[in-house]
Parts: sequence; C-alpha cells; structure tokens
Amino acid sequence: MKFTKRKTVLSLSGTRVVVYSDKADLFSDAVSELAKTLKENPKANIGLATGATFQDFYREVALQCRKGKLSLKKSSTFNLDEYVGIKPSDPESYYSYMNNQLYSKTDLKKENAHLPRSDAKNPKAEAQRYENLIKKSGGIDLQYLGIGNNGHIGFNEPGTPFDSKTHVVKLSEATIRQNSIERGYFVGRKMPRYAMTMGIGTILKARKIIVIATGSHKAEAIGRIFKKGKNKEVPASSLKGMKKVTFMLDRQSAQRL
Ligand code: PGA
Repeated sequence: MKFTKRKTVLSLSGTRVVVYSDKADLFSDAVSELAKTLKENPKANIGLATGATFQDFYREVALQCRKGKLSLKKSSTFNLDEYVGIKPSDPESYYSYMNNQLYSKTDLKKENAHLPRSDAKNPKAEAQRYENLIKKSGGIDLQYLGIGNNGHIGFNEPGTPFDSKTHVVKLSEATIRQNSIERGYFVGRKMPRYAMTMGIGTILKARKIIVIATGSHKAEAIGRIFKKGKNKEVPASSLKGMKKVTFMLDRQSAQRL
C-alpha cells in the first residue's frame, strides 16, 4: 500500500491501523489517548512498554506533565516485562529505564509504579504475584505495546500460547540479538537469558490497547501480522480483529502492508 496522506486510517482484518507520515504526530496521538483515559479516570491503570520505540513516547509524556497538561499523580502503571537475575538498580534493568524516562520526570507516585522484580529469589512466584497484583488492582485500562523484530509482544516469544498469564520466559536468540547487538544494551557483558513477562492472555484482557511500531526494521513483523491469520508464531497476531486495539505505525514500518 502507498501512503501519501499525513495520517491514514485503515481497517485491516477488522483492526484499526493508523499510518503516520510524521512520527511526531504518532506520538502526540499516542499521548493524547493517555490524556483522554486519565481525564475519564485519573486513577486508571496504565500498562507500559520499554525499548527504543517508547523513548519518544515518554519524552512527550514528560513534556506534557511539565506543561501541566497531564498528571499521573493518581494513576498506577504496570510494565509489561523485566529481566530476571539483575538488580533493579542495574542500569540495563527496565526499572532503570522507566526511572530515567518516566518516574523521575513526572508526578507518578513511586508506590504506584509497578514492574516484576528482576532480583526476585523465586521468579516463578514473582510472576504469579505480578499477575495477581494486576487482577487485584482492577486490570489494565490502557495498555501500550511495542513489537519485536520477531513479532513478540512483551517478552512473549513466538510459540507462546495466546491465553498465557504472567510467566518466566527463556529469551529467543532473535530477541537476544535484537536487544544486545542491534539496540546496544548490555555492552561488554552477557545479556540475561531469562525474563518475566505479562502473558498474551494478560495483555488481551486490557480494556484498550495501543501498539506502536516505527522504522523499516519493523516492516517485516508488521507485514506478517496482517498477511497471515492469527498464529502463535507471530505473537502480535493475537491482537487482530479486536475493536479495542489500535496499531499506530509510521510509513517505514507500514511499508509491507
Ligand atoms: P524496540 O523494542 O522498541 O527497542 O524496537 C520493541 C520490543 O522488542 O517489543
């Protein structure tokens, strides 16, 4: 498909897909959805993602908070995933990422900012605790997701059942390559081989879901989601055909649609 407009809204396999020519518009719309959710319910539970894609998102959230247009004071956040076996204070932990990008730059209360604990003695029990915490807190109102080059969501690697709950996962070679070599995390040291992630079933329970992908390196994964039916080899294909899901893409990531 050729995209010539600044913003193109499509329905693909019953899923809303918005393609932007300007990434700034994409992130502005993504943050507007957060503002809308918090306006309706300042105590909303927000599901958050990490990774290179989301740095622009958090920059915009921090800016809107600084301007007084957005407040996270009453809300709670639940991150999708975290590595196993490093300290939360490790500069490569997702806790550190969130602290640098969001917690230290907004009025979100630290006690309302949740991630699985990377240094839990019993990661399996920690995954269960996290699943229960999300449930006890009333579930996720608005979930943000990125997409791995291999089509993963959270750290749900290809082959993960669509009804999975928060669990410990062995990271795939593709993800280890993506995060260590391509993204440059864990330079000069071994990247953790295990992580904890909300399951696909946990994610699909969110009341609203926004998926963001940017860059031509995501084009293949995005193409695979929409070219084939739902299948376990492409975890993000689990999101298709749901009214509550919106994909926000730049032109580069949408080039194989
Ligand atoms: P990225 O990661 O934003 O660094 O591309 C996305 C993901 O792996 O889910």
